[in-house]
Amino acid sequence: MADLLDLDAEVFHDYLSEVLALVQAAAPPQPRILDLGSGSGTGSIALARHFPQSAVTAVDLSEDMLRHLRHRAAEAGLGDRVRTVQADLDAGWPALEPVDLAWASASMHHLADPDRVLADLFATIRPGGLLTVVELGSFPRFLPAGLTGFEERAHAIADAARHAQMPHIGSDWGPVLSKAGFTVEAERPFTVDLSDPLPAATGRYARASLGRLRTGIGDRLDAADRATLDALLADDGPESVLHRPDLNVRTERTVWLARRP
Ligand SMILES: C[S@@+](CC[C@H](N)C(=O)[O-])C[C@H]1O[C@@H](n2cnc3c(N)ncnc32)[C@H](O)[C@@H]1O
Repeated sequence: MADLLDLDAEVFHDYLSEVLALVQAAAPPQPRILDLGSGSGTGSIALARHFPQSAVTAVDLSEDMLRHLRHRAAEAGLGDRVRTVQADLDAGWPALEPVDLAWASASMHHLADPDRVLADLFATIRPGGLLTVVELGSFPRFLPAGLTGFEERAHAIADAARHAQMPHIGSDWGPVLSKAGFTVEAERPFTVDLSDPLPAATGRYARASLGRLRTGIGDRLDAADRATLDALLADDGPESVLHRPDLNVRTERTVWLARRP
C-alpha cells in the first residue's frame, strides 16, 4: 500500500502542486502542521517542503506506513521537521499540540465517526488556522478504449465493496466541515486526465492499482475479465500495463479549504 501511495504522488505530481499552491496562499508562512491519516507521507513531505520553517506531525494507524514515512522524510533531508504519531483515530484523539494547518487527504473516509474526529481536530487547530480535506471522486482509470468496459465492471464491484466497508467514502465534506464549526472557504474539484507524455511511473502505478483490484475482488470477476486482468498484470507480453503504449490516467478529486473562525 505504501508503494501504491508513493506512486500516486509521483503520477499526480502536478495536481498535488496545484493543491499545495492553494494551501500556501491561504495558510500562515511558518505553520505547525498536522497530517491526519498520513499514509506513506505524501502530504507531510510536500507540506514540509512548501513551508520550509514548519514542523509537521504525521498521524496514522499503521506503524508500517509511519516507518516508511520517516525513511522518506530522512532521505529528503526533512527528518528533523517531520515527526510521527501512531494512533487509531477511531479509538480516540492522541495528545497533540495546537496546529495552524491540518491536512487530511483520502483519510477522512476511513473513519468510523468523522464528526467526532472533526470536533477533536477543530479543538486542536488554532483560531484562524486552516484545514485541507481531499476526497477521491473516483479511483484512477488507466485503460484505453476497448478495455474501459472491463475497467468499469471491475471498479463497480470494488466500489460496492468499499462503500460497504467505508460508508463515508466519496462524501461531500463541505456540510460536514460547516457542522463541525469550520468556515468553508473553498471547494475545488480536480479532474486529472493525463496522456502522452505520461509520468515515468505510470505503468508501475497502473500495475499496483490493478493489482489491488486483483487481490480485492479478482475472485468476483467472471473468467473472461479475470483473464484480462491477469494479462494486464503480467510482467511481460503485449497486454502488460508495464509495457503497453496506450495507457492514460483519469481521476477526480475534490479539495476543501476550511478555516477555524
Ligand atoms: C488512502 S490512505 C491516504 C494516505 C495519505 N493521506 C495520502 O493521501 O497518500 C489512508 C490512510 O489512513 C489511515 N487510517 C485509516 N484509518 C485510520 C484510523 N482509524 N486512524 C488513523 N489513521 C487511519 C490508513 O492507515 C492510511 O494510511
